[in-house]
Amino acid sequence: MKPLTAISLLFATASAGLFAHQEPLQDANGLLEVEGFQVYQSRHSEHHSVRIKQQQNDKLCNAHSKQYTGWLDVGSKHIFFWFFESQNKPSEDPLLLWLTGGPGGSGMIGQLQELGPCLINEYGNGTVYNEYGWSQNANLIFVDQPAGVGFSYIDEGTPVPSTSFTAAEDMHHFLQIFVSDIFPDLAKTEFHITGESYAGHYVPTLAAQIVSQNILYPKRPQVNLQSIFVGNGYVSPLDTAFGYWETLCSTNPGVDEPIFNSTRCNIMAANLPRCMELSKVCYDHPDPAICRAAETVCWYGVIEHYDGESGEGGRNRFDITRPCDTQDELCYPEISRIGEFLNLPWVWEALGVPKAVKNYTVFSEEVAIAFQLTNDLGISTQPQVVYLLENGIDVLFYQGNLDLACNTAGNLNWASKMSWPGQPAFVAQSKRMWKDGKQEVGWFKEVKTKFGVSEKEVTFALSTVNGAGHLVPFDKPKEALALITRWLNKRTFA
Ligand SMILES: *[C@@H]1O[C@H](CO)[C@@H](O)[C@H](O)[C@H]1NC(C)=O
Ligand SMILES: *[C@@H]1O[C@H](CO)[C@@H](O)[C@H](O)[C@H]1NC(C)=O
Ligand SMILES: *[C@@H]1O[C@H](CO)[C@@H](O)[C@H](O)[C@H]1NC(C)=O
Repeated sequence: MKPLTAISLLFATASAGLFAHQEPLQDANGLLEVEGFQVYQSRHSEHHSVRIKQQQNDKLCNAHSKQYTGWLDVGSKHIFFWFFESQNKPSEDPLLLWLTGGPGGSGMIGQLQELGPCLINEYGNGTVYNEYGWSQNANLIFVDQPAGVGFSYIDEGTPVPSTSFTAAEDMHHFLQIFVSDIFPDLAKTEFHITGESYAGHYVPTLAAQIVSQNILYPKRPQVNLQSIFVGNGYVSPLDTAFGYWETLCSTNPGVDEPIFNSTRCNIMAANLPRCMELSKVCYDHPDPAICRAAETVCWYGVIEHYDGESGEGGRNRFDITRPCDTQDELCYPEISRIGEFLNLPWVWEALGVPKAVKNYTVFSEEVAIAFQLTNDLGISTQPQVVYLLENGIDVLFYQGNLDLACNTAGNLNWASKMSWPGQPAFVAQSKRMWKDGKQEVGWFKEVKTKFGVSEKEVTFALSTVNGAGHLVPFDKPKEALALITRWLNKRTFA
């Protein structure tokens, strides 16, 4: 399908927005239908257009609300999305965007394994309703990003995105079109970005892009960003490496005995200072050659003691209390079931997958390698977090305490080192317990203070879930929903 040639005819008809009142298919006057899609050209840019269809197929996903799938064309990049209206009050509830990590992981992992309204079944041939889906009280967008991941694709001759910054530019255009052209009723809705793992890079970078573009271009479509919240985020590689010792050599993650014995812990402790020194040099001079040296020292001195034993039949980086019992390093059987499901012919037909997509893969090696080559993995996104707070965007990092890959100790470490007016109060505060009803869930630290030009108090918080690993909504669905509901409604765990 070559949508752009057909779409250019539509430019003039696009005035009120395609999906006003979120009843797109009924008032799509004069809009072109191509192979079951509504096709729409952005009013704001000739390079941007969208193909979208409402899914009526409960077999695909029994979402208990309206759902739409499609591709948004950002120039030569074509980004797949799956949008669920809130199951409660679509016109009043907030809008959330979920980003899976990787780099190279499909957003469908979040949707079908963790927090979507329907989850992959045990056979990999269908889905089941998830009563703890985050669309209970929110409009929820899942995407495969950056382009090149999952169902998203790129025209021949265009390189795959290779940094969080390029990914952020594309996603910012995506969001502008989404809230102005496709669902204009969502333009004023409170918007939040969430995600997990490598989204500790994606989310702060995208949020910073939105804030700066809103300021620079007040007449272009504004994205009404209110907060970000990231689960087990990969923000600062230096601190993640530092956190290996505490996670493996103490009982702080909530284990009865440390995972490693003192022999190993002493070796790691002896190697940590050099790993830290070199990682600091990488932060100050982020040349890939320098950062590779830091990575090598940290790998052999610290990380390898655990990660070198992970994988099939070995240790699990995403939950230190569990073995790994899949053939891949990810250790979740759901991942391959998602791959099977999303390659079924009837699923492709329902989604209208374009010919340019040859196969759905849960992880894009190409994107992962591209990011590695630019050293995106070596840098910290802490500066973006400070920029967000300074501009009145609330920030939460939440953590499953049993995760090693993006461990709680490391995230608390960079959060404590972050220079901003809330720092002394954040550091001085002890960890407090938070509860869901009567049940103790984990601990939190949070600071509310004025910062930057706005008179508004901004919130920075870190909260944890006991007994959860890397994928909090998968391990503890009820607690995860309680956590985000609390954040969205009250911005406090107190
Ligand atoms: C999925 O597979 C199971 C086991 O083979 C089968 O019983 C079930 O009918 C299948 N479901 C669908 C929707 O194809
Ligand atoms: C400590 O753990 C390592 C790795 O599991 C093992 O090889 C070593 O024998 C252990 N040392 C002691 C003193 O138990
Ligand atoms: C297609 O994707 C599936 C699931 O991700 C994978 O198992 C399979 O190897 C892929 N096939 C090809 C030809 O790439």
